[in-house]
Amino acid sequence: MKLIADIKEMQLFSNATKKTGKTIAFVPTMGFLHDGHASLLKKGKEVGDLLVMSILVNPAQFGPKEDFTSYPKDIKRDMALAEDNNVDVVFNPAADDMYPAGFQTFIDIEKLSNRLCGLSRPGHFRGVATVVAKLFNIVKPDIALFGGKDFQQARIIKKMAQDLNMDVDIITMPTIREADGLAMSSRNSYLNKEERKAAICLYNAIKKARDIFDNGVRDADAILKEARNIIKREPLAVIDYVKVCDIDTFEDLDTIEDRALLALAVKIGKTRLIDNDILG
Ligand code: PAF
Repeated sequence: MKLIADIKEMQLFSNATKKTGKTIAFVPTMGFLHDGHASLLKKGKEVGDLLVMSILVNPAQFGPKEDFTSYPKDIKRDMALAEDNNVDVVFNPAADDMYPAGFQTFIDIEKLSNRLCGLSRPGHFRGVATVVAKLFNIVKPDIALFGGKDFQQARIIKKMAQDLNMDVDIITMPTIREADGLAMSSRNSYLNKEERKAAICLYNAIKKARDIFDNGVRDADAILKEARNIIKREPLAVIDYVKVCDIDTFEDLDTIEDRALLALAVKIGKTRLIDNDILG
């Protein structure tokens, strides 16, 4: 496994790989890897000839009051997990190289970024889209893989790739969950024992919503009321949003015709967790 930190070196490596006719599968990450990342890497290995994974805690996607400086890191463990999952290249650029003094070009996916998480994290998706576009220009992947827990992020990246004619296929993989149903996330490491127990309310709310939907209810308010009640019963939980919305536009739905996205963001103590499910 090769470790590359230099941007130009990564570009040269990708150019040389592509000249041989090999395809590149790419998994961008912020490190502190878990089984959710491992599932992306496994799929990446299946769909591409060469597997590149990046590790960069991207400053541009954190708000001023968010956890950029405390974001968990364990590069040794990440390298071991990358090796176990047959990653060919780990690209680990310095944030200062990605955003040198004078940097001023950003990508805005206007409508999709201003819904759901975009409302409570202004500028977040602008930062995500910008870094992913930069990484695509450096790594030059044929295929890039993203986790389904970050459904809005994956949809926004697909839209960016489509709107800007980026020559890359975006694959979204299913959410990987802990044994009790909690969606895997690097931020779960912030939870203390009590909070970890409380965090299961997100999955319980999803299960409740799914049950009601499966019993034939199509009224979004009726589903949301029950899902929100599950979370409200948990004293450590504070709802940011629980929504039933259109799977493509993220606009709120009153009635579910065919299918819908159930999306949740909930604070457990100081930790903001997200989860989602497709109803239908
Ligand atoms: O999902 C993440 O870990 C990040 O948002 C990403 C896609 C690596 C961009 O920094």
